[in-house]
Amino acid sequence: MALIQFISSGWLEPPVGTVTILIGVYVIFGCVIILSLILTSSQLANSNVPFVMTTRTCAIIYQHYRFLVDGPGLIKRGYDRFFDGLFEIPRTFRFGQVIICKPELIDELKNTGSAVASPEPWIDQTTPGVIRGTVHKHLDRYIPSMNEAIQTQLRALSFDESDECTISCFEFAYSVVARSGSYAMVGKRLANNEEYLKAVKEHILGMIMTTRVQFLVPDRLKRYLGGIISRLATIGTRWDMHASRKILLKHFDARAAEYRDEMACPGGINDKGDPKSTDKPVEIFRWLFESSVLHHRWSYSEVLGEMLLLQFAFIYTTGYALYGALAELARQPEYIQPLRDEVEAVFANYGATVPACNQMILLDSFLKECQRLHPPAAISAHRVCVKALEFSNGIILKPGTHVGVPSSWIQRSSAYYEDPETFDGYRFVKRAAAGATNTSLVDLGPDYLVFGMGVHAW
Ligand code: HEM
Repeated sequence: MALIQFISSGWLEPPVGTVTILIGVYVIFGCVIILSLILTSSQLANSNVPFVMTTRTCAIIYQHYRFLVDGPGLIKRGYDRFFDGLFEIPRTFRFGQVIICKPELIDELKNTGSAVASPEPWIDQTTPGVIRGTVHKHLDRYIPSMNEAIQTQLRALSFDESDECTISCFEFAYSVVARSGSYAMVGKRLANNEEYLKAVKEHILGMIMTTRVQFLVPDRLKRYLGGIISRLATIGTRWDMHASRKILLKHFDARAAEYRDEMACPGGINDKGDPKSTDKPVEIFRWLFESSVLHHRWSYSEVLGEMLLLQFAFIYTTGYALYGALAELARQPEYIQPLRDEVEAVFANYGATVPACNQMILLDSFLKECQRLHPPAAISAHRVCVKALEFSNGIILKPGTHVGVPSSWIQRSSAYYEDPETFDGYRFVKRAAAGATNTSLVDLGPDYLVFGMGVHAW
């Protein structure tokens, strides 16, 4: 009040007054957040789990700050201290996020049923089922189309006068994956629509940016302030999630109208969703849409929600993986020729097929090493305790606690990997030659958690 009276008394001209009011609002907002952090942190935290630092007032605020500006660094500090146990760190302005480090405890978490520790409810559990039941059976139909999409994107590369590529490694990786991934998500026509592809990439960047901005809003205020704050922070930028979402929805609506027409034709759903049917386009959107209509699984807007989430899960992770691999190839060009020789030799024998992918053992090892050192997130296998979760060491976590595994630091730990910080593209081929099992890219274990663990790992 005093501030407003001061301004309205005419001592300050409007521009300065507006700035002062804004500063005042920010200071008040900051004080409310700091106070609520201190009050709620001790209430929400699991009292029997150690914090990375102490629980003194200043330490609590510092941990929240560190989590915001350098989450992976805070997790590393925790892993170094508590690698033979577990520890607690902040999560979106609250405590109640427990990181499990000890292999035996990770195994217990893996074997805990979803009724006690469920995956975060970001995606309806029917979707993984629908995709598992269909994508896998159609892999042989995907591979040639994806290969074609990659070649189309390679042809779009441009170079300046000094032969330098004008597209960044990140942009290129995302473009390749957005195009090839869209083949699988929405079919060939949209996978060649430049407006759609641009919106796919910008929507994903927007989701990442918006999630970060959401960290600044306390959980209880999210439903009132979250939408506005993320809109304000991203409007007019490349991360304008709302603008790109509108474009995506326009294309989804048009595609869904075509599905509806086809389904209305006599014999339109002649195979009743039979995944073995080979006359249908291989499109995840179509399966989700038909599944919702035939089995009354979701409303249309829920199908769209699933599509947007799945697009993120698909394209962000795979794009990040390709980016990591391209960056390593640029850093260590000596890998290029042997990997190229392998791909050419295998393609000459098998063509662009599923068996061909299984034969590329050097490439598989190289990609696994890239993923080991550059996973898309520092924590993997997120779960939320539905009920109290008790571990064999007697530790009980409160319902509502978030649980995760520090995969990025486990994968850089000398407990599991010799010379862990050094990139060795043939590390896993050598392990296989020495008789180890679980050495291919998609094999998971307590030392390799890039794809999560247990029934939810993909
Ligand atoms: C390099 C590529 C990828 C990485 C690193 C990755 C990573 C992950 C991780 C860590 C999880 C959580 C697992 C857990 O909670 O234990 C997950 C779940 C999931 N991923 Fe991926 N993923 C990748 C590619 C894909 C692709 C291509 C798709 C879509 C076709 C996809 C769809 C999903 C879905 C639907 C889930 C939820 C599964 C469930 O809750 O049961 N992911 N992924």
